[in-house]
Amino acid sequence: MQQILKAANLTKVFNRKGKPDFTAVNHISFEMKQGECLGLIGESGSGKTTVVNMITRLLESTEGSIILDGEDITRISGRGLRKVYAKMQMVFQTPMDSFDPRCTLGDGIGESLRNNGWSRKDTKDEVERLLKVCGLSADFAFRYPHQVSGGQCQRAAIARALAIRPKLLICDEATSALDVTIQKEIITLLNELRMQKGSDLSILFICHDIALVQQFCDRVLVLYQGNIVEQGDPGAVICHPQDAYTRRLIDSVL
Ligand SMILES: Nc1ncnc2c1ncn2[C@@H]1O[C@H](COP(=O)(O)OP(=O)(O)O)[C@@H](O)[C@H]1O
Ligand SMILES: [Mg+2]
Repeated sequence: MQQILKAANLTKVFNRKGKPDFTAVNHISFEMKQGECLGLIGESGSGKTTVVNMITRLLESTEGSIILDGEDITRISGRGLRKVYAKMQMVFQTPMDSFDPRCTLGDGIGESLRNNGWSRKDTKDEVERLLKVCGLSADFAFRYPHQVSGGQCQRAAIARALAIRPKLLICDEATSALDVTIQKEIITLLNELRMQKGSDLSILFICHDIALVQQFCDRVLVLYQGNIVEQGDPGAVICHPQDAYTRRLIDSVL
């Protein structure tokens, strides 16, 4: 299988005024194959979002390299980022963060298509299709973010992320702010998207809920103080953690 993402020696050192430098992510390396769902777990503050922010180029890495679909994107910026975001999209913890509060969900979902030259009519049809794929009826296109529930807004955010047909979807605690039953629905949706015929979607799933990762991911990385302390099959990692930190992390939630 082809590789979709490779992070090598990825490092982030924050320079803090009047305090010593702080290494939030310390020379981590990992790869993702196309179609794979990789879980990234770790307690709050372990560096998960910093890893994501470097991969999505929201944050400059101090050291290391990021290869997306065979292309080195470590230092890409400005116009080059558009090409990157055509391949990689994000879903955030707070569903509303994906949308402009002054625009309808339909406008938000269709934005990337319009920017890519799609006609108004084709965009409208595609937005409808995307809403349906994500379990929402067509009339959600006319609603504003504050007029829907958190779970519905997260479905719309997933529709928005999928509009441009990315190869890699990055979900940073995308289910953490939702009720348990809604979390399950969103996981089911993500699973359905992966299983769709012809889909090669890869998902980097950041989460601090080990049970969700076990249900959903093919492989898991455990992050502790910016280091990968363990990785492998989620079932094996959870049943037979090799690292003391992983054991504590599991004990704390089970
Ligand atoms: N801009 C920043 N400046 C200084 N420290 C930061 C900054 N962003 C994050 N950190 C620190 O880096 C560590 C990792 O944070 P983060 O990646 O958000 O963790 P997680 O997503 O796993 O909760 C934390 O100790 C956090 O305080
Ligand atoms: Mg985080």
